[in-house]
Amino acid sequence: MLEVKPIEWLGDRLRWINTLELPWKLEYVTSTDYERVAVAIERMEIRGAPAIGVAAAFAVALAAIHSQGGLPEVREAVLKAIRRLSRTRPTAVNLFWALERMERVVRSFPSDGSVEEFVRRVVEEAKSIYEEDIRTNKAIGRVGAEVIEDGDTILTHCNAGALATAGYGTALGVIRAAWEEGKRIKVIATETRPVLQGARLTVWELRQEGIPVTLITDNMVGYVMSKGLVDKVVVGADRVLLSGHVINKIGTYVIAALAGRHGVPFYVAAPTSTIDPRTKVEDVVIEERNPEEVRRVLGKLLITVPDVPVLNPAFDITPPELVEGVITEKGIARRPFEESLRRIIGK
Ligand code: MRU
Repeated sequence: MLEVKPIEWLGDRLRWINTLELPWKLEYVTSTDYERVAVAIERMEIRGAPAIGVAAAFAVALAAIHSQGGLPEVREAVLKAIRRLSRTRPTAVNLFWALERMERVVRSFPSDGSVEEFVRRVVEEAKSIYEEDIRTNKAIGRVGAEVIEDGDTILTHCNAGALATAGYGTALGVIRAAWEEGKRIKVIATETRPVLQGARLTVWELRQEGIPVTLITDNMVGYVMSKGLVDKVVVGADRVLLSGHVINKIGTYVIAALAGRHGVPFYVAAPTSTIDPRTKVEDVVIEERNPEEVRRVLGKLLITVPDVPVLNPAFDITPPELVEGVITEKGIARRPFEESLRRIIGK
């Protein structure tokens, strides 16, 4: 099995795959600068809910290692980095979850402690977030593989794979685990306009491992389902509310609605760090991205009239009644979600 390491800690530097260059080029970027990591998250060199959480945690570690001065100065520099990183992207809750974990370590450190020990604890926390993410994804895979049957064709949207996490993936983790168990499955990947994570990343990842994948454009989903070509849908999530509302890549809601129409079970695979027990659906911030993403194909070919007004929400909200189950590392939550999700997160 190919081991994709989208993010790697190199002791005092962070290395990541610039996913904007895939599938044309496997380009690694290395930096010691937390600001460079913040820009990589904004530009979507690093993207996918768990991956941005992990990268942000390591960026905080970079700020700790590379700041000068005594403990008060270093602590202040790290808190400044946390504030900066929290402004990179608004929708995926994993970013805030990871930054809150880092901030707890920073704030609980005794003021008479040494800078070296402070830095060590900050780095250790970032490494734990990274390692936990890989373990969690493998557990999601094991749990989720139970709902996948031999011979299934699974439709997935966007990229919820190794490239969207510290490794292994969530929705693609379920697919990987089923494949590793010997189930002969096939995948249909949607291209995922406008950033094309499905066409560029999901297809690339699955082809690396020899898992059969067919690419469709987003607007083919209804036809493909009406022809009985999809047995299950498995997607990732950027935020799952206790109500069971699922915030994920734009286009997810259309797929869920069509799955409901055609009796295809719609599953969401996500770690418990994606479950947000605090936010109500009306308060969710949906990121609105640069209109040029819609007017052009991948920043290049202009496909419309240059000044046409554009809507470019990066995510949408799928209501709970369309969701068959939320596959987490601690089991599958099913309706009524408030009860089952609370049980899973212990709140
Ligand atoms: O805008 P992106 O590429 O960061 O959006 C990614 C998604 O919507 C994924 O489905 C989600 O983050 C889950 S990744 C395991």
